[in-house]
Amino acid sequence: MENPSSFLKFAINTAKEAGKIQMSYFGNYGEVSKKSTDIDLVTKADIESENLIISKIQETFPKHSILAEERGELLSESEYLWVIDPLDGTTNFTHSLPIFSISIGLVKKGEGTICGVVYNPAADKCFYAEKNKGSYLNKNKIRVSSSNTLSDSLLVTGFPYTHDKYYDLGFSIFKDFYDKTQGVRRLGAASLDLCFVAMGRFEGFYEFNLKPWDICAGVLIANEAGAICSDWNGSPLPNSGKRILCNNQNINKEMVDILSKDVYREFYNLK
Ligand code: IPD
Ligand code: CA
Ligand code: CA
Repeated sequence: MENPSSFLKFAINTAKEAGKIQMSYFGNYGEVSKKSTDIDLVTKADIESENLIISKIQETFPKHSILAEERGELLSESEYLWVIDPLDGTTNFTHSLPIFSISIGLVKKGEGTICGVVYNPAADKCFYAEKNKGSYLNKNKIRVSSSNTLSDSLLVTGFPYTHDKYYDLGFSIFKDFYDKTQGVRRLGAASLDLCFVAMGRFEGFYEFNLKPWDICAGVLIANEAGAICSDWNGSPLPNSGKRILCNNQNINKEMVDILSKDVYREFYNLK
């Protein structure tokens, strides 16, 4: 991108600084605490990364609102809202698996997400986009894949930390797609899953029970690279993250047909 806006420059620089914090704890993360369930983890790296991002925003844009995974909502009257996942892929991080990121999105009232950055510090890969200006990976433009059919596609998905009434049904969707594609991967960082659709590694991504910070930046990056992001039945994407479908457009109908099957109607009751 020739002239990134000051918001985008700020978001990239801040994500890279947070990346340094994460890398200082990678392989040496100390104590782990548990959140919603025994497998929902948080480390010092999550907290310090988030503190750094929040303090940078408060210093630079003191009037803006913030929604951050660990600290929640810090709201003001501003029309700007920063949506932050300070460490997406914490479980991978604690197992020294280099698939994790910092995700920072900026939403403007009435316009939706106007800029987004997903930075994977272990590989020094920085994905970013501004609305209507395309998507980039380390300064190179990226595009979704051109595969035309589900049978030629590789998909990616994820599963929530809660093992409730949706648990078996979630695996049944996995099996449906597994039978009709070249495979379905579970990498463990939703923001990167979206970026990997954006750059054409995967043709599609679906998940349920995500949160706004998991998808805010990644959805803009995917859309700007030519992807379509929607609810499972093709209606507008719920920003809450309760259901998300993202693909290269060519396989959209085939994915929607599976995700809107009557046996999966339970998922449409998710709050
Ligand atoms: C998780 C990751 C994972 C997804 C989980 C998320 P976290 O985020 O994005 O891929 O399947 O549902 O909660 O907890 O590592 O920030
Ligand atoms: Ca996350
Ligand atoms: Ca997180």
